[in-house]
Amino acid sequence: MTQAYKDPFRPQFHFTPEANWMNDPNGMVYYEGEYHLFYQYYPGGTTWGPMHWGHAVSRDLVRWEHLPVALAPDDNGYIFSGSAVVDRQDSSGLFGGGSGLVAIFTHHRRNEETGEVSECQSIAYSTDRGRSWTKYAGNPVLAEKGLQDFRDPKVFRHEPTNSWIMVIAAGDHIRLYRSPDLLGWTFASAFGSGDGSHDAVWECPDLFELPVEGENGGKRWVLIVSIGDRPEGAEGSRTQYFIGEFDGFRFLNENAPETILWVDHGRDNYAGVTWSDIPDIDGRRIYLGWMSNWRYANQTPTVAWRSAMTVPRELGLRNGRQGVRLIQCPVRELQALRKKTHCQTDLELTEAQKILDGCEEELLELAVDFRLGSSGSVGLRVRASDREETVIRYDAAAERLSMDRTRSGEVDFHPAFACRHEAPLSVEEGRLRLHLFLDTSSVEVFANDGELVLTDLIFPHPDSRSLILFAEGEGAVVERLEVNALGSIYDP
Ligand code: FRU
Repeated sequence: MTQAYKDPFRPQFHFTPEANWMNDPNGMVYYEGEYHLFYQYYPGGTTWGPMHWGHAVSRDLVRWEHLPVALAPDDNGYIFSGSAVVDRQDSSGLFGGGSGLVAIFTHHRRNEETGEVSECQSIAYSTDRGRSWTKYAGNPVLAEKGLQDFRDPKVFRHEPTNSWIMVIAAGDHIRLYRSPDLLGWTFASAFGSGDGSHDAVWECPDLFELPVEGENGGKRWVLIVSIGDRPEGAEGSRTQYFIGEFDGFRFLNENAPETILWVDHGRDNYAGVTWSDIPDIDGRRIYLGWMSNWRYANQTPTVAWRSAMTVPRELGLRNGRQGVRLIQCPVRELQALRKKTHCQTDLELTEAQKILDGCEEELLELAVDFRLGSSGSVGLRVRASDREETVIRYDAAAERLSMDRTRSGEVDFHPAFACRHEAPLSVEEGRLRLHLFLDTSSVEVFANDGELVLTDLIFPHPDSRSLILFAEGEGAVVERLEVNALGSIYDP
């Protein structure tokens, strides 16, 4: 492992830039055996600055090869977030009858004298598997007067109407455009000024269709929309989604407009979108988020680099008591990181706490199946020592799952960081299943097979490694516990 990847808090199985600042994942596309990950990047420092697209590729979504910066600022401005597609039929005419990659992104320019900001959409293309990029001479390909915060185009192919679709944020709503060639775009519809949460600016949308679990042929469209930081709220930036129908022109929300659905109930999953062009034989929709929060992203206590991505997650839909909802599970490729497995069954939690000896590894994947009995609450203390701990607790009476990182390690770098937050989660027949991933500076909790997710950064001391199961009240049992020590992606 190179020295660079041993620096304090450097995640060992989450994607980080080698050095300097990173925010949103961009241009995620699968092409010729490689998953491309571009990202908002400032190569000149560890805080947000003039935006570039950093670039990395992976064959397995676990180990990444860093590549040179793909797109740098130019006369049209900084390179803000966007997407990439495979132009298979050369509909753009940029590939001389062959195929290639097209990136669609926002050019962001601020007039230093007037402070006026302009945002328009541009493209770049690559004929060498993303290794080099040419900006299109006719940029921008979409500019609209009078729209504020008009950015983050996500483009995909809609076969039923034989068209490219762009879904893009415009301040307080989403706009949909259509194109035959990725070069000229026609407005199709707007969505959302009266729907969902409007706590702050809308950013980074994504729109895709997914099958509903167990429903033969049942499908829905999912619209993801990130919402920026609202200074009055405690949460900072977060991401909502809508479920509905899309006919190539218009998105129809199937829930009441006031319904608010969150992708993640933790504090650190923002601007997430999904990979484009994953082959149909697999049919997976894989999502990746930026594991930070605009509230304190520029202040997190790392030195040479700043920010990581979440683990890649496979998305699905489940029809539950409240209707069709998004589920997410860590991709199966992560299983390759498992080094050593420790299993226990029927572990009674009659003592207040059970310290799991022999599980003091820093990098862990845990699966815990609780049966609640009459206990008031059950949970785990992770990255614990006598100094600190992060507590994941399920309160059975209140039916809420919480994450408490008030004493999780370094918390003083920003007043909003030390916090406890929770989300509603009901269980059936007293059975609760938690699936956790612990890296050097994060906890991701997937509850009840992906029904509820909490993603949180933590900055514990490297030696705080105790793992404790607890139950408050009588009769709780851990029916099955599986602890996997994970290897680092930097191990040879
Ligand atoms: C979301 C975002 C995007 C924008 C980018 C700038 O985190 O604000 O809307 O394109 O970051 O870096």
